[in-house]
Amino acid sequence: MASLGMDFSGKVIVVTGGSRGIGRGIVEAFAESNGTVVILDLDESSARQTTNELTLTGRKVSFLPLDISLYHDVQLCIEKIIDKFGHIDVLVNDAGVSSGKPFAECNEKDWDFIVGINLKGTFNTCNAVFPHMIRNGSGKIVNIASIAGKLGGGFRGTAIYAASKAGVIGLTKGLAREGGPHSINANAICPGVIKTTMSDPIPEEHKKAIIAGTPLARFGEPREVGDVVMFLASDMASHVTGEIFDVDGGIMRD
Ligand SMILES: NC(=O)c1ccc[n+]([C@@H]2O[C@H](COP(=O)([O-])OP(=O)(O)OC[C@H]3O[C@@H](n4cnc5c(N)ncnc54)[C@H](O)[C@@H]3O)[C@@H](O)[C@H]2O)c1
Repeated sequence: MASLGMDFSGKVIVVTGGSRGIGRGIVEAFAESNGTVVILDLDESSARQTTNELTLTGRKVSFLPLDISLYHDVQLCIEKIIDKFGHIDVLVNDAGVSSGKPFAECNEKDWDFIVGINLKGTFNTCNAVFPHMIRNGSGKIVNIASIAGKLGGGFRGTAIYAASKAGVIGLTKGLAREGGPHSINANAICPGVIKTTMSDPIPEEHKKAIIAGTPLARFGEPREVGDVVMFLASDMASHVTGEIFDVDGGIMRD
């Protein structure tokens, strides 16, 4: 796969949830563009497998096990990365969870779980990395939200998932405002339906209906999100911040 002619040599890119799915598409994009990528993921076996496969092809990829919902663990993990590499240039918040449970069946536990990972987890990593980027006078943050955050519901997710992703959109816009004076760009991407383990459980009938309402008439591939993330983290998008990009085959065209 082409890497858009971009060169991330000497840049350190941290990707949460980078072991599989969309996160892996993001990791591959940066790694193929000579970036040094650190995956932070709860799923150690999948992260190890991705790391092994990519390092075997000469890419600079490593991983640290982390639950992004745990504030202090995130702080320590980010400190470790800065100690080892000296800097973090790009932070991509991809890790996330969804649920197909109707809102009427949800309780406080569902809220804490989904919001704790999707929104608080994104806050945790941004909160740990932002002061470092301010000190460096530069940085790029790309958060993976969802069109569910705009529509009020996902194709699998519920109102809680939508709320968590709407929160990510608001957080991103706030970081763009506060980061701007320090040359920190913060943008978010709203994927439509991308082929991953998260979208797998959508019932077949529902999948057909979604595709019928998608101008490109298909689901996206993880790498199609990865390439847009890389563009937003590159100097080609140096004057772009606070933007929320749909990568959805045209679902949100209206
Ligand atoms: N697949 C889609 O259609 C779709 C659509 C819109 C948005 N998204 C968003 O894209 C992102 C990636 O989704 P995906 O489809 O690749 O899902 P996925 O389930 O394939 O991957 C999610 C990754 O996040 C990691 N993760 C989950 N909880 C974590 C935690 N607490 N700490 C650290 N890592 C954790 C998982 O181990 C996994 O590697 C999510 O934020 C999701 O909400 C996906």
